[in-house]
Amino acid sequence: MTIKFQTTDNIEQCLDIRHKVFILGQNVPPDLEIDGLDDTARHYIGLDQDRPVATCRVRFIKETAKIERVAVLAAHRGQGIGRKLMDYVITALAKDPNIKTIKLSAQMAVVPFYESLGFTAYGAPYPDAGIPHMDMQRPARL
Ligand code: COA
Repeated sequence: MTIKFQTTDNIEQCLDIRHKVFILGQNVPPDLEIDGLDDTARHYIGLDQDRPVATCRVRFIKETAKIERVAVLAAHRGQGIGRKLMDYVITALAKDPNIKTIKLSAQMAVVPFYESLGFTAYGAPYPDAGIPHMDMQRPARL
């Protein structure tokens, strides 16, 4: 498997993956999934032989980068694509001296996944789109 990660202006490819993963796969209401913030975000895509299979977006809030909408198509999960996508994005963010902290809101089920990438959970769990979440953060550079 050769997978290539890159930033993209082709938001439609990202939205298509997110539609399958969150709206169809996790019953997230469409108006929560499409929250009006995509125009303000940097979008990433993972291409497996030019086929889009993974995505996430990053929003910048002062010295913080927030990773959101992390999604791998169901048929492509469990092969390390999610971890490689996160590694790629974190490595890119770490090169930006203006970014001090990386944050994300993790579904409870994947908190251990993000812990293995250097994130620490803080605060109390809360529901988002009916799914329990925890806030997590890590320094941009460990
Ligand atoms: N529950 C528990 N552990 C999970 C998990 C889940 N739902 N999904 C992934 N993991 C673990 C894997 O076991 C693996 O652990 P390991 O490296 O110790 O073996 C690790 O996370 C990474 O696995 P990887 O194959 O790189 O992940 P992936 O390509 O399957 O992508 C997600 C992980 C979470 C992005 C993918 O499962 C997905 O898109 N899920 C639906 C959307 C979602 O929940 N997004 C996260 C929003 S916070």
